[in-house]
Amino acid sequence: MRRPAQLGVLIGPKGRGSNLRAIDSACRAGLLDAQVRIVVSPNDDAPALVYAREQGVTMAIVPPNGRYGDRLVQALDGCDLVCLAGYLRLLPQEVLDRFPKRVLNVHPSLLPKFGGAGMYGRRVHEAVLASGDEESGCTVHLVDSRYDEGRILVQNRCSVLDIDTVESLAEKVLELEHEAYIEAIARVLDER
Ligand code: GRF
Repeated sequence: MRRPAQLGVLIGPKGRGSNLRAIDSACRAGLLDAQVRIVVSPNDDAPALVYAREQGVTMAIVPPNGRYGDRLVQALDGCDLVCLAGYLRLLPQEVLDRFPKRVLNVHPSLLPKFGGAGMYGRRVHEAVLASGDEESGCTVHLVDSRYDEGRILVQNRCSVLDIDTVESLAEKVLELEHEAYIEAIARVLDER
């Protein structure tokens, strides 16, 4: 029998961890033939690590300095797929080379709209509201060496209402992200 796919989840310095939780829960519930092998964080006080500790998920703290790419690759040893969840940097080339077409990211807008350097967190939703767009959503895409430009795997949509605020829109989109991420991982695993 084939072993479950091994996932490495990379979070950011203030990682809240809701996507980590959604992915890990889907694995534990058998919705994905996968397992979170490791959570990689740049610092040891990211909120997402509370969840990782509770669940006994292996963690690695890899600060972004000196031979960062190599150290990330080392931490991700044994992983089949890498999932970015709140990771804010461009991924070092070493990781992209080691996991070709095997790194996914989730972004809180319908890319290619409202993506690119500096577009993260509430800035994205502020821009959506300012644009007057009647629709927003999230995108799960493959990661390459540019911000938010890799092949789109899944997009989930929601309406933007007149009464929406940055907070209400962010909440709706985050809920969509969790489902979209699991669907995208399942698709990539199916192609294995
Ligand atoms: C999400 O909004 C995602 O779109 C972006 O970073 C955020 C991570 O949220 N890339 P969480 O830490 O998974 O809750």
